[in-house]
Amino acid sequence: MILQYSHSIYLPLQPKKKKKKSQMTSRNFPFSLCLSSLLLTIHFFFVTKTLAQVPANETFKIINEGEFGEYITEYDAGYRVIRNEVYDFFAFPFRLCFYNTTPGSFVLGMRAGIPRDEDLMRWVWDANRNRPVKENATLTFGKDGNLVLADVDGSVAWQTNTANKGVTGIQMLPNGNLVLYDKKGKFIWQSFDYPVDTLLAGMSVKQNNKLVSRTSDVDGRDGKYSLVLENSGFNLYINNSGQLVNYNGWSGSGGSFIRFYTAPIDQDPKSAGWELLLETFHDKKSSPSPKPSPSRRSLLQSFPVGSGNALILRKLNYNASISFLRLESDGNVKVFTYFDGVPYLKWSETFAFFSSYYVRECGLPSKCGSFGLCQRGMCVGCPSPSGLLGWTENCQPPKLKPCVERAKVDYYKIDSAEHFLNRESTGNGQGPIKIEACKEKCSKDCRCKGFVYKEDTKKCLLVPVLGTFIRNVNTSTAYIKYNSL
Ligand SMILES: *[C@@H]1O[C@H](CO)[C@@H](O)[C@H](O)[C@H]1NC(C)=O
Ligand SMILES: *[C@@H]1O[C@H](CO)[C@@H](O)[C@H](O)[C@H]1NC(C)=O
Ligand SMILES: *[C@@H]1O[C@H](CO)[C@@H](O)[C@H](O)[C@H]1NC(C)=O
Ligand SMILES: *[C@@H]1O[C@H](CO)[C@@H](O)[C@H](O)[C@H]1NC(C)=O
Ligand SMILES: *[C@@H]1O[C@H](CO)[C@@H](O)[C@H](O)[C@H]1NC(C)=O
Repeated sequence: MILQYSHSIYLPLQPKKKKKKSQMTSRNFPFSLCLSSLLLTIHFFFVTKTLAQVPANETFKIINEGEFGEYITEYDAGYRVIRNEVYDFFAFPFRLCFYNTTPGSFVLGMRAGIPRDEDLMRWVWDANRNRPVKENATLTFGKDGNLVLADVDGSVAWQTNTANKGVTGIQMLPNGNLVLYDKKGKFIWQSFDYPVDTLLAGMSVKQNNKLVSRTSDVDGRDGKYSLVLENSGFNLYINNSGQLVNYNGWSGSGGSFIRFYTAPIDQDPKSAGWELLLETFHDKKSSPSPKPSPSRRSLLQSFPVGSGNALILRKLNYNASISFLRLESDGNVKVFTYFDGVPYLKWSETFAFFSSYYVRECGLPSKCGSFGLCQRGMCVGCPSPSGLLGWTENCQPPKLKPCVERAKVDYYKIDSAEHFLNRESTGNGQGPIKIEACKEKCSKDCRCKGFVYKEDTKKCLLVPVLGTFIRNVNTSTAYIKYNSL
């Protein structure tokens, strides 16, 4: 028999009205709760098998209704702040909101930034982006400890699945982690376990888990890019109509999880230097260490396309503790850092995977939209059977007729061009083979959209997806498949 213990258990760290800035960190939070739970354990020593509940005065039902906030947020979204008399779900600079980019279609999300900063506030976590809710949807935290987002018709759009698991409270932590905890302060559920497209500092991705981009600014549903932690590394994939194509990433030993975080360069309090880091953990049992250990700093030391094994680590000359890494809807990976020490424009882009300081921008498959030739970060041409035309956003690859056997295909050339799949780390295709054999292979393969042939090594790389071609040394030539008349 389970005794339902429903008196309120006083936890000194439960959220309180008007408690705006919590000084707790994720590290001492469970620890101090442990102390109080020790007292509780003594106190309730003879009450066995109790199932703690959320005190009635700390449950809530919040309706998605009312006025919208007046400030500008990312994706041009409208938003409603989520709060009531007990909770304000705010921990500088993070806040829980309902937000929408299309009318009547709301996502429960977390915002980062402060309205009075007069800078764009950014969306860093979503609960239900693939199942948005309507006006008058409800967010309910019941006595059973389940947090449920139900649409106006009552259907459950999202939930934490924590009913009757001993949850006694909910809190937003200063690192942007929304947690449901039990009476011992143990996190029964935390938003940090459910990354969407963003890793806040301190957040990690477990092996075989991933970040998935949003479709576009206006469409928050799963997009076609993903950043997946695998044995072979932290790999970027494009979903090419169901086929996942690795377009870049941090190769090397992937580990059991990878954490994004920031840290001061050294212990000197006068030092203004901070680093943005991705740290790999190989042992499932070891928990993330709060201090960086230099031997583990492997992942931002990627080798950019074409420039050997260069170690590249982003350093900043100011406090970067509030940062997040995000897989953008265009397939780029960026870090944004919030710096309170300036009067305005507090967010800045502090890292981009495809950029002038990391892997060249032309390596971003979507750099020139669906098709184009890129040189030094600029789209310089639209390849066509009649040669290079001026590039516009309307530049499209050739439309191929349905692929049937013996359908007549031909190829046109892009001189001195590389494809984003053409990387030292993954090899430059098969070979040496003759160009005619390479062409033959592509013609027989319905998924092949073209190929890149390296004249010097005679290597042949068939490509299943087009996009941005990179103008480079004149030793490789791209051939684009098309239906000749
Ligand atoms: C809820 O009630 C209990 C006692 O009944 C009290 O200790 C606690 O502070 C209350 N919570 C809030 C948020 O007011
Ligand atoms: C939301 O609920 C309120 C109160 O019941 C109602 O007046 C309003 O029309 C509803 N809004 C929508 C869009 O259904
Ligand atoms: C890839 O996209 C297709 C739709 O084109 C979708 O059905 C599929 O689930 C996606 N796969 C992954 C792994 O994202
Ligand atoms: C960096 O900024 C954070 C957040 O504003 C603050 O808590 C922390 O004390 C700062 N660290 C240093 C070394 O200044
Ligand atoms: C490019 O081609 C020209 C003419 O064929 C040749 O002189 C030059 O060395 C080539 N450049 C490279 C980098 O291979």
